[in-house]
Amino acid sequence: MCGIFGYIGKKNPLKACLKGLELLEYRGYDSSGIAGIVAGKIESCKEIGKLSCLKEKLTLKALEVAIGHTRWATHGKVTNQNAHPQFDSKQSIALVHNGIIENFDEIRTRLEKNGIVFSSETDTEVITQLISSNYEGNLADAVHRSLPFLKGHFAIALIHKDHPDLIIAAARECPLSIGTDDKCTESIVSSDPNAFLGKAFNITFLRNDEIAKIQKGKIEVFDSNFKLILKKTERLESASKAPTKEGFKHFMLKEIFEQPTTIQKAFLGRIEEQQVRFEELKHELKNVKSVLFIGCGTSAHAGAIGSLFLEDLAHIPAHYEISSEARFRVIPPETLVVAMSQSGETADTLSAIREIRAKGIKVLGICNVKNSTLTREADHCIFLKAGPEMSVCSTKAFTSQITVLYLLAQYLAQNKNLDELKQIPAHVQKVLDQAPLIQKIAQKYCHYSNFFFMGRRYMYPTCMEAALKLKEISYVNANGYPAGEIKHGPIALIDTNFPVIAFCSNKQTEDKILSNLQELKARGAPILALAPEHLTSVTKIADDVIWLPQSSDLLSPFASTIAGQLLAYYIALSRGCDIDQPRNLAKSVTVE
Ligand code: G6P
Repeated sequence: MCGIFGYIGKKNPLKACLKGLELLEYRGYDSSGIAGIVAGKIESCKEIGKLSCLKEKLTLKALEVAIGHTRWATHGKVTNQNAHPQFDSKQSIALVHNGIIENFDEIRTRLEKNGIVFSSETDTEVITQLISSNYEGNLADAVHRSLPFLKGHFAIALIHKDHPDLIIAAARECPLSIGTDDKCTESIVSSDPNAFLGKAFNITFLRNDEIAKIQKGKIEVFDSNFKLILKKTERLESASKAPTKEGFKHFMLKEIFEQPTTIQKAFLGRIEEQQVRFEELKHELKNVKSVLFIGCGTSAHAGAIGSLFLEDLAHIPAHYEISSEARFRVIPPETLVVAMSQSGETADTLSAIREIRAKGIKVLGICNVKNSTLTREADHCIFLKAGPEMSVCSTKAFTSQITVLYLLAQYLAQNKNLDELKQIPAHVQKVLDQAPLIQKIAQKYCHYSNFFFMGRRYMYPTCMEAALKLKEISYVNANGYPAGEIKHGPIALIDTNFPVIAFCSNKQTEDKILSNLQELKARGAPILALAPEHLTSVTKIADDVIWLPQSSDLLSPFASTIAGQLLAYYIALSRGCDIDQPRNLAKSVTVE
């Protein structure tokens, strides 16, 4: 999280920086700030809240060079003082940072003993003051002498009042891309290459304590021994226009409605002569004895469904694990680890794959964002092709993930029976057509503050995902539970104020979930069932039903997921929440 951006070149650096920050705001929106140099002095402006708050306050004009930041708070509350850029006490350096410095307290105490006075609670100020204390006229050299003292991970960009023609950048394990245009008239540093202002650029990525000296149209990179190195550049073609809401009230709703198309994009071109082919796979995946899916949040739930596909279709033992826990697991040889990530930048997932690959285990990434770190670090990477997902709450990426996972299972099983998948976009559309009805139901349920979501087999991860949607955007307590487990404790919570949302589409366990619903009804829980059309008996138990098209158990997560997404969306809408940018969250979480 946190987005950092810097610009030096022929355009107005302030305007360019603001534009870059707009494209990085998905990385955090607790506060934002910009600093630049005017006539040998650092000038800056910072403001808590979204970028729009900074824009309202901004009085800065012509800056010679500019760096900017959007913050997702880690160290220190959301205040102007803790917003980035941070400064040294001489006001000669301004620095923006993404990441965490684990030994910041120790360095701070040491610097304070030397008389340095701190003015924020951030670990970022510690980096700034440390670099300032090592500065003897050469800014890159001061950075080089400071980095070995830092424990943790970071991407930084900084300027010095005496060097208006220079930005220094450095990175360890956090994404940082740098690039110049073809005519060498401008240079950019950005947390995400997709924020490169829509022009063609020649870019490279910093890693392993590399340091870059960035000047107008010219970049030099030094390795951790401060030796000048030649880095391979990649061509970043001009990005297409930033997506718009196209008449929808929120990006989330637009992205929910895109799903008949995005699901098709995930499978079209990958089925040839009734067989699955992935052009991205450099060679066939052979000798896969077991599969471990890893991911965070929504991506972890997709992995959980993927593990069921693998076992049911390919008869390969499969599990899923939350990325931040995966590194502690024993992974048998010949396991294929599948790292799920929409953004390809989630720190927990990246750290896990680094450890897993270091043990000689192959990692297949499944990702939506091209050029992301996961795509560069995994052994293979399959793309979702879902297009940019703007809403923090992930929707279309999830259904594309499970489409790709279904194909992966069929691929490993070498199956030829793929016809049912082709009907899924139509099923999804059928649920979308019920949006007005789901909105009415949402209005009935929007006043409750606690929910149980429950399901069995395929509906278990599906209901966990639906509960996560509701939590993320409505700020109500919603827990996805295996329906069979509720009686072992959680049922104590049930009363007339505790609705149960029952995901009933898994045919194999239909009778059992109906019995579980009876047990909850007997204790007064309001019940909303998401049920396949044939399950008419559910009307005797549930207070409300959303009817879903029927499919095999394997493909049942699609329609149920869409209903869950719409339900969460309309509950959040009724509660007046900030749907696309919910409080405390960020689209891409780049700290552990
Ligand atoms: C954040 C987002 C979640 C997302 C998770 C994993 O926590 O708020 O919506 O599911 O990261 O993101 P990834 O990009 O790795 O799929």
